[in-house]
Formats: sequence, C-alpha cells, structure tokens
Amino acid sequence: MDIIRVEGLAKSYDGHQVLKDLTLSIKKGECFTLLGPSGCGKTVLLRLIAGFETPDAGRILIDDQVVSDPAAGINVSPDIRGIGVVFQDYAVWPHMSVFDNVGFPLKIAKRPANELKDRVMETLELVGMANLAHRLPSELSGGQQQRVALARAIVANSSLMLLDEPLTNLDANLREEMRFEIKELQRKLNITVLYVTHDQEIALALSDRMAIMDNEGHIRQIGNPWEIFEQPVDSFVFNFMGIANFMPVRQLGESYRVGNGEQIVPWEAPQGNAANWVAGFRPSDVQLAPQGPGLRGKVKRASFLGSMIDYLIEIDGAHLRTSVETHEAMSKGLLFKEDETCAISFRDLHWFDADSLAEVKK
Ligand SMILES: Nc1ncnc2c1ncn2[C@@H]1O[C@H](COP(=O)(O)OP(=O)(O)OP(=O)(O)O)[C@@H](O)[C@H]1O
Ligand SMILES: [Mg+2]
Repeated sequence: MDIIRVEGLAKSYDGHQVLKDLTLSIKKGECFTLLGPSGCGKTVLLRLIAGFETPDAGRILIDDQVVSDPAAGINVSPDIRGIGVVFQDYAVWPHMSVFDNVGFPLKIAKRPANELKDRVMETLELVGMANLAHRLPSELSGGQQQRVALARAIVANSSLMLLDEPLTNLDANLREEMRFEIKELQRKLNITVLYVTHDQEIALALSDRMAIMDNEGHIRQIGNPWEIFEQPVDSFVFNFMGIANFMPVRQLGESYRVGNGEQIVPWEAPQGNAANWVAGFRPSDVQLAPQGPGLRGKVKRASFLGSMIDYLIEIDGAHLRTSVETHEAMSKGLLFKEDETCAISFRDLHWFDADSLAEVKK
C-alpha cells in the first residue's frame, strides 16, 4: 500500500519552474531515498509533502487522504499530517535545552511527565546525546544540533519520517553509526522513511528503493539500489552513482573504433542504429596488463595514494581513470610510469547512445 502518493506535482518560484508534473509513490514501511544534485528540488518536494509549501498544481495523498490539491482548494496544515520531519537546516529551538527540544512533541501530545522523561532520555541515548541533555543549542556543535533534531523527530513516534540530509554535519564514524541506527529504527518500528541526500553511498546503504532526480527536477529512474547501480537507464544515472568513465566509440563498417584512432573494439557491440556510442565503465571495471589482449593505451599520470595507485590513461584521444592496489601492482608488474604503454580490458561495459545518452542493451 502507498503511504505517500504525489501526482503531477508542479512548483515554481518567481517564474523558475522547480518541479513539473512529478509523480511518485512511496510504499508503507519502506526506506525510500531521493538522490539528486544540489538545487534539483529535493527540499522543495519534502516541504510540499510536509505541508510547509503549497503546490501550484497536482495532488499529494498521505494514507489515501488528499492533503494537497490546489484545484480543489485542499491544503491540510503540517501539524495534522502526522509526519516527523528533520530539515536540512535542523532548526532546533534556541531558548530550549536539548531535553526540552526533544520532549516538545510529547509535551504537545500531553504525555505524562515520567513517560516523557523516559522516552526523551532513551532517544537521546540512541543518538549519543544523553550526557548533553541540559545544554542549550548555542552550546552545541552543528553535528550535535543535527542529532537533537533527529531525536525530536524520532521521539514523536510518527509512522512516516521525512529526513532531509540529516547526517551531513556529522563526522564519518558517527555518520555511519547514525545511518545504521536510522535503518534499524525503520525496520524495528516498521516506519516509512523518505530520505533526501546527494550522497550515493548513504542512499545505496539505506534504501529499499531509490529515485534519481536530475537538475530539471525530473525523476530519471526508480529502483532498488542494485538496479540503479547495475542497470542505469542513462548516462546521467550512471554518472551520478560514482566515478564514471565515458569513452566515445564510433562504428566504421562492421567494426567499432575507440576515440579518434584505428584500434578495433574487441567486444560485443550493442544493437541499434546509432553510428556513435559511448561506452561507460567504473574504475573498478578496468583491467590493466603490461601487454596482451585488449586495447593499447598510454599512462598519462600515475599518482601513488598509499594503498592504491591511481592512473589516468589515454586510448586514442579518450581518457579513463582507474586504480590498482599497490600490492597487486607490485606483484603483477602493474607499476607503470608516465608515458609507458599498457593493455586495457574491461570487466563490464555499459553502452549509451551518443546522441540521446540513453543506455542501450547489448
Ligand atoms: N522559497 C524559495 N524561493 C525561491 N526559490 C526557491 C525557494 N526554495 C527553493 N528555491 C529554488 O528551488 C530550487 C530547488 O531548491 P531545493 O532547495 O529543493 O534544492 P535541493 O535539491 O534540496 O538542493 P541541495 O542538495 O543543495 O539541498 C533551487 O533553484 C532554489 O533556489
Ligand atoms: Mg536541499
């Protein structure tokens, strides 16, 4: 069952159309992440769902109830939508202690004092803030304030939580721990989480399903993490999901050539009518050898990064980046210097039509 349904949503600011005809549904109990570049409209969408903004057109339904529908004059106010929200700017009340900030939703709900105390302290424990319960927000770091905002959303026990980049100000260790806690909490309490981020790693780790949004506020693809990573619908999605290499390939008669050179591509070619393709691959899909089968390339740059060596390689005018573990490089003769040649093959290639940049199936 869908807990959120967004239908044909549109929103503009001063003539700038941020969202246009956006349709999306989130199932009850899932952790859904919305991933997209900065400024693409993620926060705007969350604010519309939470009810802090009204759409220009379209409808929003929560639990099958219409909560926004400008055409019908419906706009249910945020406090009765039953949603826990943590916004990017994690507004905490400056005049209230950590304890009072987190306890506020329970106070409003008129919960008895001892229950309030227990639940607030439990939640503060969960986010690692129990020892700072008496502090004011001005006495906290950015990451600590973010945890207070997260605790305040958790304590209210909403079955639906909207989280807008709630972990950005935390250090790497704490971020990983909190990511795990959010996932645990979502599973344990069977709540639905709509999580907004531009961090692919967090999205892959958390999501049951995820959506990739482009700069124009269009959703390019919805799928589980594996589908998004392994079966991107186009080069935008592929590129957004990690470091990507794109190598132009042109058809010449029956064969395919790389870049502007004459080397013949020794792999299965895609089906289709295009004469020009782009082969996409991740650094981990590249296999290097001193010589042997594959394409011939020239090492343009070799950077020693400790456990890895990062190479920039040119093949007939096309450039690619890859890295090799230092131990492997030493044992397999893969310690290349600049201007040395090497042989390149690929574990996996994605083919895109050079004009439309849509992925082409082999
Ligand atoms: N109240 C507003 N008035 C005018 N423009 C706005 C307003 N809110 C958002 N915008 C514009 O809408 C676009 C989308 O903004 P939004 O905050 O949703 O981006 P985002 O995807 O959340 O980005 P980020 O990852 O940086 O947080 C931006 O161009 C922004 O400037
Ligand atoms: Mg945002």
